[in-house]
Amino acid sequence: MDFQLTEEQLMIRQAARDFAQQECLSGVIERDETQTFPKEQVSKLADLGFMGMMVSPDYGGAGLDTISYVLAMEEVSKIDASVSVCMSVNNSLVCWGLERFASEEQKHKYLTPLAQGKKDGELYIGAFLLSEPEAGSDATSQRTTAIDNGDHYVLNGIKNWITNGNSASVYLVIAQTDIAKGSKGINAFIVEKNWPGVTVGAKENKLGIRGSDTHSISFTDVKVPKENRIGEDGFGFVFAMKTLSGGRIGIASQALGIASGAYELALNYSKQRKAFGKEIMHHQAIQFKLADMATKIEASRLLCLKAAWEKDQHIDYTLSSSIAKVFASETAMWTTTEAVQIHGGYGYVKEYHVERLMRDAKITQIYEGTSEVQRIVISRSILK
Ligand code: CAA
Repeated sequence: MDFQLTEEQLMIRQAARDFAQQECLSGVIERDETQTFPKEQVSKLADLGFMGMMVSPDYGGAGLDTISYVLAMEEVSKIDASVSVCMSVNNSLVCWGLERFASEEQKHKYLTPLAQGKKDGELYIGAFLLSEPEAGSDATSQRTTAIDNGDHYVLNGIKNWITNGNSASVYLVIAQTDIAKGSKGINAFIVEKNWPGVTVGAKENKLGIRGSDTHSISFTDVKVPKENRIGEDGFGFVFAMKTLSGGRIGIASQALGIASGAYELALNYSKQRKAFGKEIMHHQAIQFKLADMATKIEASRLLCLKAAWEKDQHIDYTLSSSIAKVFASETAMWTTTEAVQIHGGYGYVKEYHVERLMRDAKITQIYEGTSEVQRIVISRSILK
């Protein structure tokens, strides 16, 4: 076993750290306040090759490993989780699924610009459309239908809480093609946002990750060419589950970054703030909080890296990605809450960043499978 990062991995981590400090920190409070999508930041991430990190250079990607992706996600998430969720969805839920399961034609047409994050010089990213008003955790209960109509499908329905909903050019849409077949009657389709019948709903007014672009998307008689179905007929649910297993590594790393960002802020604050005649870091109550934060964060990091390593080794990582996500997201919620506590009254106001990190942490326990869904996946795996 080797815990040493390679030169390349260290370089990627440093590049992500520099990017987050230089490009994301300034304006992060305002973007949160005004719910402004970080277009400029995402565009620069694309220029760095971070929107298709693990995609082969044959399809416009950076050809990096999943460990590098975890390292980069942690660094960006320390500063701005609204930027990192956009990065995570494009990398793990969109590009990975296409590279692994799409046809050569689909890859050349869609994956190459998505991995570059640019087409004709403009931002070009994707979104993953599984959740519905009545199908969140219960993902097999899809109400969106895609009816076979010869050379195309006719898509109708509504999808909810879609990250990159308005900023994406390409949607991977999960829809029911044959309700009688249950999860085997579900397919995944590549749908372009500008096709007739596609409507983007209002932006959600969220508790956290407020810069990220979350919308409902509705489809009314959208004609989807047959060649835009991903994989064999009936493959859509397995496509979604396999894609989400990798996505969960991304969100676990996002949670790790939010936790470590809050920890670093609390550590620095405890060295400066004085109470009862000394810096608060000299009080054991603070020392023990910091010690517990450091311990849980290190455990989260190791779980994320293990899941990433398994993915890179082509070992089944379904269990390890769920374990990493549930542990890292709960660590993020706990750590950010304690970081606010260490900051006292200052922690409750926006300038000190920790209240934002606390709000941002919450979503990591909800999206890409709630903590309860992760426990379903984990318990099924250990009890089988
Ligand atoms: N790999 C391959 N096949 C899989 C699989 C996997 N990881 N998981 C399930 N399957 C297969 C099963 O083997 C089963 O096949 P058979 O019928 O042949 O046995 C089929 O799929 C149905 O699976 P289940 O019976 O396990 O389905 P279920 O209804 O019990 O649901 C669940 C299981 C784990 C709860 C699943 O529904 C789930 O993960 N739900 C959460 C969905 C989710 O994560 N949503 C997030 C939305 S996306 C998002 O948040 C993106 C964003 O914008 C940030």
